[in-house]
Amino acid sequence: MRKIGLCLAFLAFAGIAGFAQAPKSSISKTKPAAKKPGSTATPKRPEVTPPDGSIATEPNLKIAFIGDVGIGTYQRAVLNLLKSEGAQAVLHQGDFDYHSDPVGFWSSVNNVLGPNFPYFVSVGNHDVGKWPTTASPSYAGMQLERFPRMGITPDSLELNNQMYSVTFKGLKVVFVGEQNGVGDAIYAPFIRAQLKSDNHAWRVCSWHKNMNAMQVGDKTDDMGWGVYEACREAGAIIATGHEHSYERTKTLANFSTQAVDPDYPDPNRLAVTPGRTFAFVSGLGGESIRVQKRCWPIDPPYGCKGEWAKIYTSNQKAQYGALFITFNVNGDANKAHGYFKTIGGQVVDEFDITRQSGAVPPAAAAPAKR
Ligand SMILES: [Fe+2]
Repeated sequence: MRKIGLCLAFLAFAGIAGFAQAPKSSISKTKPAAKKPGSTATPKRPEVTPPDGSIATEPNLKIAFIGDVGIGTYQRAVLNLLKSEGAQAVLHQGDFDYHSDPVGFWSSVNNVLGPNFPYFVSVGNHDVGKWPTTASPSYAGMQLERFPRMGITPDSLELNNQMYSVTFKGLKVVFVGEQNGVGDAIYAPFIRAQLKSDNHAWRVCSWHKNMNAMQVGDKTDDMGWGVYEACREAGAIIATGHEHSYERTKTLANFSTQAVDPDYPDPNRLAVTPGRTFAFVSGLGGESIRVQKRCWPIDPPYGCKGEWAKIYTSNQKAQYGALFITFNVNGDANKAHGYFKTIGGQVVDEFDITRQSGAVPPAAAAPAKR
């Protein structure tokens, strides 16, 4: 009886101490450091590993996503926003300075963020002339010089094919290029190869261009569906630019048909798992702001097939800004939180993402054709 009483007393204490609140999906590998009396330092969070044994990102890893940036006042305002929001890295989805000026572009980045700040780029159509390392100077060449300063070793030092991957603080990112017509034949197989045996909990696909149905302006079918579907099949978040506005999908079960996953219709509660993910255009980096040409009306519920969770263009009086996603939030390696913030300080989109391991049932992965 005494033993049972002691057990009950311990369980009651554990509940009060919050251990009972620990997410079931998390396994503590290390004990949290005890806070010293009077200390103002925040105790280090315990490392957590998702139950499927995948590799977690560092706790509260905040990444900024920008595209179509240009050079000058608005670019600086956006870069300063990234700094003030505490982003730990930038993933730039193409179109840098629009002047084919690698030195000017990278200098403008360094002037605000410093020469060692983790800054990773996907090549855009306005960057392609000075991308190859055979150009002098070269955007890719200067990215390569930056890797060791950031403490990063990419999968390959060959960037002339516009494809590479990195792992940053536990986040796997695959970058592909902007050439029309090679998405299905070259970029999609690269993405599949990169993600097939990868064991990171959170993965991102980053590129510049779009399919017409994956943006709300007048961009055409440049990428092919293969890249979108390769990332969906692997459960990787899809980051794009090119159209100068911000738009984000709901959780999609099929990109080529824009089918919303019937199990996750909530626009602000997304799920990412092999077979389902979401995509966004984050093209308000500073160059210009365009109108909404597709999927009217301009307020939710939007048109087309109901695939859009948020549309933010000049019709919604958009300002420049960036999308931020924080991974491994609140001590849960399978949770992430996203928000789009403008240089005026307004949060115009906010959403939660849950990552699940394992494959989705075939019915959800391939909705029946009607
Ligand atoms: Fe572009």
